[in-house]
Amino acid sequence: MMLMPLPQLQVLFTREQIARRVAELGEQITQDFSCQSLVLLGVLKGASVFLSDLARAIHLDATFDFLGVSSYNNGTHHSGEVRLTKDVDESMEDRNVLLVEDILDTGLTMTYLSKVLLAHQPRALRTVALLDKPARRIKPVRADYVGFEIPDEFVVGYGMDHAERYRNLPDICILPKHVL
Ligand code: IMP
Ligand code: MG
Repeated sequence: MMLMPLPQLQVLFTREQIARRVAELGEQITQDFSCQSLVLLGVLKGASVFLSDLARAIHLDATFDFLGVSSYNNGTHHSGEVRLTKDVDESMEDRNVLLVEDILDTGLTMTYLSKVLLAHQPRALRTVALLDKPARRIKPVRADYVGFEIPDEFVVGYGMDHAERYRNLPDICILPKHVL
């Protein structure tokens, strides 16, 4: 396996800024769902780091589940279609479901997943995206909870990748156009 050097990346949000915002989101969600149980439904793989931090900021009876989707073709180019590659493990019927996404970009993924999940007849379906890139939206969709709005930049770290790399960076960084 060839060792690829990591480029120097510009930090958009530090781990401290992320931690503060995730704590606020967790507090808000805890209040809004007061005393109800909740399924934290993460979208693999990007949302896994966010979900694990957010879950510990939510003080409710919660379970984890994960969905797999394929929408990006190995990098930055959107295939235009979304495909389910892993379905939920547990039934979502009559459950309070919080769909956890790393980033809301064109909105194709969240639109597709909301439709799929509503067919499962949950009691309530809410969505949280750590990042929101409204400039890139194709589908008119918004998340119920958003960590940060960001400009039209490609970001990596804190679970987010470019061609599967950089997910383990603790800060959220901008990947310069020449690397894309
Ligand atoms: P959408 O369907 O275009 O809204 O895309 C959502 C998915 O695309 C996210 O869950 C990410 O996996 C991926 N994505 C969109 N923008 C970025 C980015 O800037 N960096 C890394 N992944 C991204
Ligand atoms: Mg991705």
